[in-house]
Amino acid sequence: MSDQHSDSRAFVHATPEDAPGGIYHFFTGVVAPRPIAWVSTVGADGVLNIAPHSYFQILAHNPPTLGVVSVGEKDTIRNIRHTGEYVINVASAELVEAMNLTAANFPPQEDEFAWAGLTPEPSTTVATPAVAEAAVSFEMRLTEIKPIGDCFLIIGEVRHVRYAADLVVDGRISPDRLRPLGRMAGSTYARTSDRLDLKRPSYRSLLEDGVVAKRSSDT
Ligand SMILES: Cc1cc2nc3c(=O)[nH]c(=O)nc-3n(C[C@H](O)[C@H](O)[C@H](O)COP(=O)(O)O)c2cc1C
Repeated sequence: MSDQHSDSRAFVHATPEDAPGGIYHFFTGVVAPRPIAWVSTVGADGVLNIAPHSYFQILAHNPPTLGVVSVGEKDTIRNIRHTGEYVINVASAELVEAMNLTAANFPPQEDEFAWAGLTPEPSTTVATPAVAEAAVSFEMRLTEIKPIGDCFLIIGEVRHVRYAADLVVDGRISPDRLRPLGRMAGSTYARTSDRLDLKRPSYRSLLEDGVVAKRSSDT
């Protein structure tokens, strides 16, 4: 690790292992807020399982593909390997406590829907139920599981979406109605009520507005 100064702000250079708290805590502090995939699965014995995953992203939209990472072997990934399917539900702000409860390390024979007071909603294209209380659910077919060190990237294709009709305003999902949660570090969550809108510029508009010329004349 070495200290360097840029104007009045001190900067530290470090290897990933030396980052404050180790790279896991550094990642989760910096790569934030992260969306949360609330993944429902069914075990080999038919027991319902659900767990939040904030290592979660859109990987492609054609075909519609989402990625979730299992940090090690857990019931969720074991069930997905067995059935080849799962449902990704969205935990809106009002479901934060139920979502958090499902992160407890329940033994595989426990029905986590029952523990969290969630209602299983039959899905259309998979045998795994969605969470009836969730405003959006994606029915997923497993594409592949890619091991990355001691983690596993679970890549799946969306086969069907279920969403509350009242989420849609002017043909798009309204963030005020969906109220998605973000995960920060540790037990901290972000609400998505404080937002800003900013139009993406084109090079042409920057030239027309004189922004490029202004920047270069500043230097
Ligand atoms: C908000 C939140 C996000 C989480 N994200 C992940 C994740 O991305 N990957 C993971 O393996 N565990 C994650 N966890 C921990 C799992 O939810 C936890 O280990 C759970 O018990 C796994 O359940 P399972 O054994 O039924 O699969 C997260 C926990 C919380 C509260």
